Amino acid sequence: MNDQSSIPNDLDSFWMPFTASRWFKDRPRMMTGAEGLYYTSMEGKKLIDGTGGLWCCNAGHNHPYIVAAIQKQAATLDFAHSFNQGHPIAFQAASRLVELAPGFDHVFLTNSGSESVDTALKIALAYHAARGEGQRRILVGRQKAYHGINFGGLSVGGIGLNKGQFGTLYPSVQHMRHTNLPQNAFTKGSPENGADLADDLAMICETQGAHTIAAVIVEPVSGAGGVFPPPVGYLQRLREICDANGILLIFDEVITGFGRMGTAFAYQHYGVRPDLFTVAKGMTNATVPMGGVFATSNVREAFLSGPANMPDLFHGYTYSGHPLASAACIATLDVYRDEGIFENVAKMAPLFQEMLHSLKGIEKVVDIRNAGLIGAVQLAQDGPVGAAGRAAYERLWDKGLVVRPIGDSFALSPPLTIDAATIEKIGELLRADLSA
Ligand SMILES: Cc1ncc(COP(=O)(O)O)c(C=O)c1O
Repeated sequence: MNDQSSIPNDLDSFWMPFTASRWFKDRPRMMTGAEGLYYTSMEGKKLIDGTGGLWCCNAGHNHPYIVAAIQKQAATLDFAHSFNQGHPIAFQAASRLVELAPGFDHVFLTNSGSESVDTALKIALAYHAARGEGQRRILVGRQKAYHGINFGGLSVGGIGLNKGQFGTLYPSVQHMRHTNLPQNAFTKGSPENGADLADDLAMICETQGAHTIAAVIVEPVSGAGGVFPPPVGYLQRLREICDANGILLIFDEVITGFGRMGTAFAYQHYGVRPDLFTVAKGMTNATVPMGGVFATSNVREAFLSGPANMPDLFHGYTYSGHPLASAACIATLDVYRDEGIFENVAKMAPLFQEMLHSLKGIEKVVDIRNAGLIGAVQLAQDGPVGAAGRAAYERLWDKGLVVRPIGDSFALSPPLTIDAATIEKIGELLRADLSA
């Protein structure tokens, strides 16, 4: 057995993801244990997990019911693939998933959010080709969007820094503008201004020819780009333009899925149904990697008219529907249902909102944004871009709270099991730190 509490003697072998490795090595911050709302660091310090892992540990850490389900599955059927054969637990997980998603009868299983996004984009392209509209090749994304790091998701993503090292990517991409308007600063929840920014899609239809556009993808609440809730009416307007022009609407619900808005999925919260939506993260409470793409019957049926001896979709992963991930998913959905986790979000979101907005007035706080149990505090720039966000992260870690720096802001996305006392404690820590 590895002793997970010991300090590693080699910090070079692991090429860390999205990490300034020299900065990390100056002062390595590592977790060695977790339970419920808390992490334990290598030094034995208890920290509030203000980020729910990375927007993913929705039911809190090390939930015993989920742990037991994974252990049992590992000892029953460790692995079987799903290419022209199957195993029951993947079908059981898929049935449970679609039960949660009114209007969606099918789910394609992947292993991550990035894979889900690339899968959804490929389904959109193939859907149009199957219907004789193969000229629809343009994919539309949005400025500041984060859709993971595979070629498709990176192409439609809207964060230039993430693309700079990699060249052309998918060639037929257009972007809409983001919705973070200065006049919306300090709005609680969805801002009133900005629905008309959805008309960028109408403009792209005009400049490119609507008949060449396959799909538009947006995060219902923009997350890793800085937390931007959708302006009131914005998602509805996108839906209308898609309907008028035969364009598929894809929601990337990798963060918002599985309860973060108080409903199973954000499309229910905002009352706008996409044609496809992507998930991952909270799907297994982040215990075993898993992602998925939900599809309406309309999309799925387009794939059933080809030769019966050929795959419906020439796409799939060795681990699509992995038995351990499927077991973790079913157990996670049990916990969400039996412990009223989504209902807890509906109760806690107003307290979370009030706590965050109580920081208004502190000199270095220049904006506060929130939706469901997602929030961000924007700090005044202090030195190079990103320095203020990173400094806040470092100070708050030392005070016992983990936040997620994003440029000069930091985001909070606590486990959905959070309670009033912990929200208050987070507020106290933030107030003391930011006013100092
Ligand atoms: C909206 C969104 N899509 C996709 C991804 C990529 O997910 P993963 O890191 O599991 O590949 C993320 C990750 O944070 C995300 O926030």
